[in-house]
Amino acid sequence: MKFSVSGRTAATGLVAAAVSTVMLLTDGSLAGAAPGPAQAAAPDIPVANVKAHLAQLQSIATANGGNRAHGKAGYKASLDYVKGKLDAAGFTTTVQTFTSSGATDYNLIADWPGGDTDHVVMSGSHLDSVSAGPGINDNGSGSAAVLETALAVSRAGYQPAKHLRFAWWGAEELGMVGSRNYVNGLSTANRSKISDYLNFDMIASPNPGYFVYDDDPTIEKTFKDYFTGLNITTEPETEGDGRSDHAPFKSAGIPVGGLFSGADYIKTAAQKAAWGGTSGKAFDPCYHRSCDTSTNIDDTALDHNSDAIAHAVWELSS
Ligand code: TRP
Ligand code: CA
Ligand code: ZN
Repeated sequence: MKFSVSGRTAATGLVAAAVSTVMLLTDGSLAGAAPGPAQAAAPDIPVANVKAHLAQLQSIATANGGNRAHGKAGYKASLDYVKGKLDAAGFTTTVQTFTSSGATDYNLIADWPGGDTDHVVMSGSHLDSVSAGPGINDNGSGSAAVLETALAVSRAGYQPAKHLRFAWWGAEELGMVGSRNYVNGLSTANRSKISDYLNFDMIASPNPGYFVYDDDPTIEKTFKDYFTGLNITTEPETEGDGRSDHAPFKSAGIPVGGLFSGADYIKTAAQKAAWGGTSGKAFDPCYHRSCDTSTNIDDTALDHNSDAIAHAVWELSS
């Protein structure tokens, strides 16, 4: 089954099919189809928790030569930190090992037990930094927000109709090596079971913009509606297709979306008028530099984007 716009219909059919086991009449209509149990709205993600994860990632970098890069001790220590939190929260974690540029590397996959595993909502972030620095905005920010969203799923005891999966990728900075390995390793059948892949790579840039990937229309609308509710204007992120871990998923025909707060591009006057900050200056002047530390984070962007991730995970899986 191909999941694109038609996959949405299939997903709706999934809900109807579940109802039909108790209510389908012989003529195929639904008798008094009471709505299923109402799913609670997504929780507010505590930004202090996300920041606590970032502080841990910074400490890990500091203790391991100043980075968390592919093939370095700081990467594996970052993975062990995230895995420990997920294991304690009841996730089923899998470490996928691969080799890149002569060094061993790892992806971390976390499945939340329950939901229809034929319809998977997957969210991911790359966990590696460049070797120049600790990579706290790029991409501790996405990694920490996805981790805290997963922990919020556990705290809420959320049991959506679809299955939830979370991923932390290795070697994105070497050309999306980890995510490409993961997608290449999936059978055609298992690829078609992923309803959505949501990617978060840099979501707390110190001079932030609010960019929503201009890709799958349903995912894009889910994010845009959330920001509209906050009275924050967004711009479409269009040049990211080849630049982060959603690319291998998109190439495999999986609907993708995501959020981005800007890297080395310069904020325009119009963007400053919309979002504040400083025009004529990069969204992240410390992009891929040693100064991408725990001070290189805009707390407000981190908070809004973390809450938007939880909103989309809840909305797309219910
Ligand atoms: N990690 C990405 C990179 O190093 C960050 C990035 C830059 C990005 N531009 C992007 C991510 C656009 C998503 C979309 O290239
Ligand atoms: Ca919040
Ligand atoms: Zn990067």
